[in-house]
Amino acid sequence: MATMSSSKFPSRVLLPLILLLLAASADHRTPGAYAAALPITRPGCPDKCGDVLIPFPFGIGSGCFLQGFEVTCNNTFTPPRAFITNRELDDPSAKWPYGGVFQDVAEIVYLTGNSEDSKPSSSKTVSVPLELFSISVADNQARGYGAISSDCTTATAEHLYKYQGTVFDSYADAPDGTFLLSASGNVLIGVGNSVEPVLTQRVGATSSFWASCVSKGTGYLQLPANGSCGGRGCCQTPVAEEAVADSRRAFSVALYPRNDGDPAQVACNYGMLVEKNWYNFSTTDMNGYETLPKRFPRGIPFVMDFAIRNSGACPAQGQLPPAGYACVSDNSYCANATNGLGYVCKCSHNYEGNPYFKVGCQDINECEHPEKYRCDGICKNKPGDYDCLCKAGMKGDAKKGNCTEKFPTAAKAVVGGFGEVYKGIVGDEIVAVKKPINGSILENDQFANEVIIQSQVIHRNIVRLIGCCLDVDIPMLVYEFLSNGSLDDILHSNNMGPLNLDARLKIAAESADGLAYMHSKTSTKILHGDVKPANILLDDNMLPKISDFGISRLIPRDKEHAASVIGDMSYMDPVYLQTGLLTEKSDVYSFGVVLLELISRKKATHSDNYKLVNSYLEDHKKGKKSTELFDKDIAAEGDLEILDSIAVLAVECLNLDVDQRPAMTEVAHRLLMLYQSRSS
Ligand SMILES: *[C@@H]1O[C@H](CO)[C@@H](O)[C@H](O)[C@H]1NC(C)=O
Ligand SMILES: *[C@@H]1O[C@H](CO)[C@@H](O)[C@H](O)[C@H]1NC(C)=O
Ligand SMILES: *[C@@H]1O[C@H](CO)[C@@H](O)[C@H](O)[C@H]1NC(C)=O
Ligand SMILES: *[C@@H]1O[C@H](CO)[C@@H](O)[C@H](O)[C@H]1NC(C)=O
Ligand SMILES: *[C@@H]1O[C@H](CO)[C@@H](O)[C@H](O)[C@H]1NC(C)=O
Ligand SMILES: *[C@@H]1O[C@H](CO)[C@@H](O)[C@H](O)[C@H]1NC(C)=O
Ligand SMILES: *[C@@H]1O[C@H](CO)[C@@H](O)[C@H](O)[C@H]1NC(C)=O
Repeated sequence: MATMSSSKFPSRVLLPLILLLLAASADHRTPGAYAAALPITRPGCPDKCGDVLIPFPFGIGSGCFLQGFEVTCNNTFTPPRAFITNRELDDPSAKWPYGGVFQDVAEIVYLTGNSEDSKPSSSKTVSVPLELFSISVADNQARGYGAISSDCTTATAEHLYKYQGTVFDSYADAPDGTFLLSASGNVLIGVGNSVEPVLTQRVGATSSFWASCVSKGTGYLQLPANGSCGGRGCCQTPVAEEAVADSRRAFSVALYPRNDGDPAQVACNYGMLVEKNWYNFSTTDMNGYETLPKRFPRGIPFVMDFAIRNSGACPAQGQLPPAGYACVSDNSYCANATNGLGYVCKCSHNYEGNPYFKVGCQDINECEHPEKYRCDGICKNKPGDYDCLCKAGMKGDAKKGNCTEKFPTAAKAVVGGFGEVYKGIVGDEIVAVKKPINGSILENDQFANEVIIQSQVIHRNIVRLIGCCLDVDIPMLVYEFLSNGSLDDILHSNNMGPLNLDARLKIAAESADGLAYMHSKTSTKILHGDVKPANILLDDNMLPKISDFGISRLIPRDKEHAASVIGDMSYMDPVYLQTGLLTEKSDVYSFGVVLLELISRKKATHSDNYKLVNSYLEDHKKGKKSTELFDKDIAAEGDLEILDSIAVLAVECLNLDVDQRPAMTEVAHRLLMLYQSRSS
């Protein structure tokens, strides 16, 4: 293997002082543009060079950087480009220590076919300062533009070999310099038909081998493929931490063997140390002269770790920080460097910004970043943290996103249109708790109405009001808990099994009894106003109970009707719709529809032009039995007569002549008779 010289080549680039001064005074910020952003530099220092942000401890111009972090902004480029200042390159009279980073690119011409040890026919080397690709203070890493090493066959039966060597200079009290090569951040990549890139240490007069991989473009069954860097046209290998340990301060990317192939077939081979996951192999990179350097003319990014290396490690606990200690921000802390000597500064947990100057670390407003700081409730920022509480009526850990209803959601049901119902426990008793959707009970007539009405009725077929709870933000009504849901669920939910005729008759007779009680047996007549299967609840013995008195009306015995009630259109008495006057016969009408649902197991709806109701009414008009409209599950031969009787009763309830409709007491009585006729 070739031995590479470690001496630096004499070419030096002199930075005119005037440019440095210009750079120092230039403020690239437009007024107000960063008003809300966190400061990243010392006051008065430029925070950008071209596209590259320059956060402190990096800086452009005197007083703007910590030792070892000086940046030169070259304004002859458009946009300007940032370089790590290298006094050694800038000023031939500069004395050690220099600090900084530079890259040599050696160009050597060999005759094609010569062995690697043969004498080159010509060679030259240029040394250039390292251009910055980006700086991350949070990761304590910077990226530089690295040169691509290449070996290209030329038409003149020679080949031109270029290889890069990078040197991280040390400086006073800091033998590790500011920058060291990051092992984990980079990979070694080779591109070409037959190439073995080699990452070598470059210290003193010797070089030692760190890493390599092999790429063959031909002779394999599988051809090189775009995006795949697995040894066919492209190879890559990680840079092992331990291999780097001794030699992070200078490295080269060489190519081995030389490209001695037929110039017609093999144009160039390439090697590069590059940021992990950055390069995407394209087969076109293999073909043509210097394709890869042409694709990335400024070079390819590689990652360096930086640290404050001139005053040892972090101060031990209880120890005073050394002079010039860099972790000066409030809410920052010190961490020993993991690559080389020294330490780095970090913002405390839930702070962000720049720990290297006094007001650098700023509280993160976590509430503004829900994608990163979860809060499935009410979020409130506070210094160094945030509070996140579940919304009212919920409990749990909102930061973990598992707020649950204070009452189990399984039991939650929405009844009528204005309240939500939850399962709860009072003493040993399971109860249903109903709260209005809208805040205050005073805003909600219906809610108050329900309390007044419910407190007057006690009947086994009417849901029992246990109490109410008004001394909380949201008033609540507490009812007996009915475990089997509503008749609507039982008839129309997909997963419900068959329901036999006896059960249906019992539900019909008992719920009719509850309504009859409301119409006639209480001191004031109570009209329900919204009779429908969803308002008939069932306990675990399938005993029905009328619920939801939100729009019910109390009517003094001497008055016949109440006005302005809006219930469910699908069950609404058309006579009431015409007159606007609610009577107990309106409830009878609605109950007639419930009976049709019970025997047909079809849902009544106004959106299909009252199909269910109309089909029974038409059969009736034609004097025809509605046999084919019955639910097949219960339409057994022996039960058709009873089903007919129920259908006839329902049709009576639906009579448009209100006076011809039976009273609720009669409906209840006839249903009870039918039920008893079967069980006797
Ligand atoms: C800026 O870049 C130009 C072009 O490469 C170079 O000639 C000049 O010396 C550089 N100036 C400084 C201050 O580095
Ligand atoms: C890879 O992609 C380039 C352009 O993106 C295309 O020209 C080339 O044919 C592709 N190679 C293969 C093997 O598909
Ligand atoms: C390579 O692909 C990745 C993923 O698509 C992309 O993020 C990256 O920018 C690409 N690299 C280059 C140099 O285009
Ligand atoms: C850093 O290293 C020093 C010396 O090795 C040690 O005394 C100190 O406790 C370390 N500090 C932290 C924060 O790990
Ligand atoms: C919330 O979720 C976490 C993790 O997912 C779990 O450990 C915790 O028990 C959950 N708490 C509740 C109240 O469900
Ligand atoms: C709740 O209040 C809002 C706004 O005051 C109103 O638009 C909405 O209709 C109310 N909902 C009910 C069910 O009363
Ligand atoms: C009614 O509730 C009881 C007890 O919770 C249950 O065993 C039964 O299956 C339920 N019946 C229906 C039809 O949901």
